[in-house]
Amino acid sequence: MKTRLSVCLTVCLAVCLIALNLFTMACQNTATEKPNPSAAPTSPSNEARDVHSYGNPEQVRVKHVDLNLDVLFERKILNGTATLTIERKQNDAKTLKLDTRDLKIAKVEAATDGTTFSPTQFSLGQQDAILGTPLMVELPAQTTKVRIAYETSPTASGVQWLEPAQTAGKKQPYVFTQSQAIHARSWIPLQDSPGVRITYAATIRTPKTVRAVMSAEQDSNAPLTGEYKFNMPQAIPPYLIALAAGDLAFKPLGQRTGVYTEPTMLAKAAKELEDTEKMIEATEKLYGPYAWGRYDILVLPPSFPYGGMENPRLTFATPTILAGDKSLVSLIAHELAHSWSGNLVTNATWRDFWLNEGFTTYLERRIVEAVYGRENEEMQAVLGRQTLEGLLAKFEPRDQVLHIDLNGRDPDEGSTEVPYEKGTLFLRQLEEMAGREKFDQFLKGYFNHFAFQSITTADFRAYLQKNLLEPNPQLAAKMPASLLDEWIEKPGLPASAPKPQSAAFAKVEEQAQAWLTGKTPAARLQTKQWTTQEWLHFLKFLPPQLREAQMKELDQAFNLTKTGNAEIAHVWLLAAIRNKYAVAYPRLEEYLTSIGRQKLIRPLYEELVKTPEGKQRAASIYAKARAGYHPIAQTSVGKIVQ
Ligand code: BES
Ligand code: ZN
Repeated sequence: MKTRLSVCLTVCLAVCLIALNLFTMACQNTATEKPNPSAAPTSPSNEARDVHSYGNPEQVRVKHVDLNLDVLFERKILNGTATLTIERKQNDAKTLKLDTRDLKIAKVEAATDGTTFSPTQFSLGQQDAILGTPLMVELPAQTTKVRIAYETSPTASGVQWLEPAQTAGKKQPYVFTQSQAIHARSWIPLQDSPGVRITYAATIRTPKTVRAVMSAEQDSNAPLTGEYKFNMPQAIPPYLIALAAGDLAFKPLGQRTGVYTEPTMLAKAAKELEDTEKMIEATEKLYGPYAWGRYDILVLPPSFPYGGMENPRLTFATPTILAGDKSLVSLIAHELAHSWSGNLVTNATWRDFWLNEGFTTYLERRIVEAVYGRENEEMQAVLGRQTLEGLLAKFEPRDQVLHIDLNGRDPDEGSTEVPYEKGTLFLRQLEEMAGREKFDQFLKGYFNHFAFQSITTADFRAYLQKNLLEPNPQLAAKMPASLLDEWIEKPGLPASAPKPQSAAFAKVEEQAQAWLTGKTPAARLQTKQWTTQEWLHFLKFLPPQLREAQMKELDQAFNLTKTGNAEIAHVWLLAAIRNKYAVAYPRLEEYLTSIGRQKLIRPLYEELVKTPEGKQRAASIYAKARAGYHPIAQTSVGKIVQ
């Protein structure tokens, strides 16, 4: 009898659960399928389900985070509290759902008056390899704040801890975070979705020998007291929360710009980045005022896994941009451009990532054109299209789509160069069709209209329709829905996609031909005035297979194995691996063990593993390099090598 009853109860419960599940799914479906008219500008992102977050912002929404953290270098952990200010969207909602990854939760408390906290129930759900672990917090009635006491794991995916030996100065330890795409949850428990914008404040305690900086308002002259205060009064997506601490010095570059880095690199960094204020002025002229107050740059140690990260008020940058001749500072133009496309107007989900990166790449090239001239912009655009064609030739169709379906996948997998280069070509075509003046005006209006909002691809399409295409019937005829679909929803490139041209590159090709046909020896080629971009084009233009003697001749003429320019070295080392040019192997190993920027190291490992002998070399280099890589790079390179 007892068992019969319990079977019956279990069945009932199961049926109920399935029904509930179906109901929730139905709700979610209608939420995704609802059209996104630009007529609802207040919070269009509410319409978007983020498949990469466990958060329940539609019921209870996190609005603000107060961080109070100790940076414990010996244990490689951050330890302290995150106090979340919440807003109930559904009056009867009893649970706050948050994202975490490898966090140790010690205690959760709730307050109704904002100051008196008492313990409340919480539970951690099942761990997911991509998403992490949901944290459910029970909310007593009238709760306005939730305080979580926690510590991070030494292997937190979004935090890299460096020994003094891994820094330039070799004396102090260093730590930095990288929250994009979904790594904020590995150091802060919150609703880690770009659709959930929050303000934040922080108190960070460190050993007295290091300085802490964050993507927020701060005092660059704060004395080294071991306690630092930060405030970000503008609502930002969680992936823009960032922290670094180490032996950091600061040098102003202009009224509202400056650079932080280790003392030994400060002078070089300041010189290289001296055009930053000019870039801001050029961008403001095009797209309206810079919205974030100061724009400072933190130049990190070489293990930083990206070229740059647009943390608001404080761009994080790889030291590999310090080429000595400003030839790689378009990266700063890129991160600065995110102050409009990305930080002001944000992708609501990672599916909409191209809205961040495609727009930013377009803006980046416009800034380069304004500050360094059209020639320069043309070269970058040609290189961009070449990169894109290479990727389209090797990616499966689903990875060639701007509005990419990342369900069940790590959003870091979506961060290929397709959203960057295909996105920018799309905007370039719109510009060419509309005329520059009209298109600039449109973009300025777009940033203004959606400022401080997170939007979906559908929001953009509706806005484009209403504000650019409908008012200009001739343009609308050139950009029909079918062509928009081709750009946004389909793999490949539309046949009408712009083909940027560069006269400077035509000359580079002449030189390359003269050498390849044996007309001119390498040492006599006219390369004196070449910029980094021209060198890159020259090397990429050469056939993939070169003879040993040819590799040697190039190397002797241009000292390529020894170049200090990380981008040129990258392309040269690719050729060295392909052509088994052993002279460059020590440099290859040195390169892969000293730089952690994924865009530069991953393709080298991919090239290595194409042969059995290379596979061994890759494994042996990776064994030495791994400890110095960021957890994100360890994961991505590990996949290639193993
Ligand atoms: N926001 C990206 C970096 C990023 C993307 C981090 C996806 C995590 C996930 C940044 O703005 C960027 O695009 N950096 C580029 C540099 C740029 C000049 C193309 C990079 O790191 O190579
Ligand atoms: Zn970017």
